[in-house]
Amino acid sequence: MPSLVRPAVPAGLLRQLVQPTLVVEELVVRPWQDEDAPAVLAAYQDPDIRRWHARTLTDEAEARELIGTWRGRWPAETGAGWAVTRDQKLVGRIGLGNLNLVEGTGEISYWVVPAARGGAVAARVSDAVCTWMFTAVGLHRVQLDHSTGNLASCRVAEKAGFRFEGTRRGQALHEDGWHDMHLHARLAEDR
Ligand SMILES: CC(C)(COP(=O)(O)OP(=O)(O)OC[C@H]1O[C@@H](n2cnc3c(N)ncnc32)[C@H](O)[C@@H]1OP(=O)(O)O)[C@@H](O)C(=O)NCCC(=O)NCCS
Repeated sequence: MPSLVRPAVPAGLLRQLVQPTLVVEELVVRPWQDEDAPAVLAAYQDPDIRRWHARTLTDEAEARELIGTWRGRWPAETGAGWAVTRDQKLVGRIGLGNLNLVEGTGEISYWVVPAARGGAVAARVSDAVCTWMFTAVGLHRVQLDHSTGNLASCRVAEKAGFRFEGTRRGQALHEDGWHDMHLHARLAEDR
């Protein structure tokens, strides 16, 4: 049945673009490489990353598999994932998932390794990735969900310009049960 909606982003556009490397002050936000596996494995030893991303990794093979999933999203046009590095060392991850090209929407997620926290890395790279997705790809809305218990992530959302839109009760299943989730979002025209 023909749709009356013209897709916000034409199918195939993302695949045709080379995934960019973005420089955000001292940070280099680049596509993932297999060689990142040891650093990704180390990052998932952090209790906060495990808790809020509800996953663990037991060895480098699993880390490579996870990196493969992140890398596969760009050619499949389902999302995008970048390694955040400083002085060529991995300090974080920024990802865009649940990409819907027809609606022009996606969901952002991130972590920063404990040693690199305190410098607003997540807010700065979220802003840069969103800006690129709005201007180069034509996305319209990027959403950010976090548990109401994750106060640091709430601050990241606010600092990166994701407006608070409400609380979704019992929306996400974590290791310790269902969590209420804050919904934040940023529209292309917000900034
Ligand atoms: C959330 C996270 C990415 C933020 O790291 P970061 O970019 O280095 O951010 P910062 O440490 O600079 O903190 C950002 C803000 O949160 C605040 N904050 C940090 N930890 C906090 C805590 N435990 N409770 C309340 N506020 C906190 C900081 O004071 C800062 O606020 P300010 O700008 O008003 O000063 C990092 O803590 C992390 O990786 N956590 C585990 C994984 C995670 O939660 N991912 C997000 C899932 S939704």
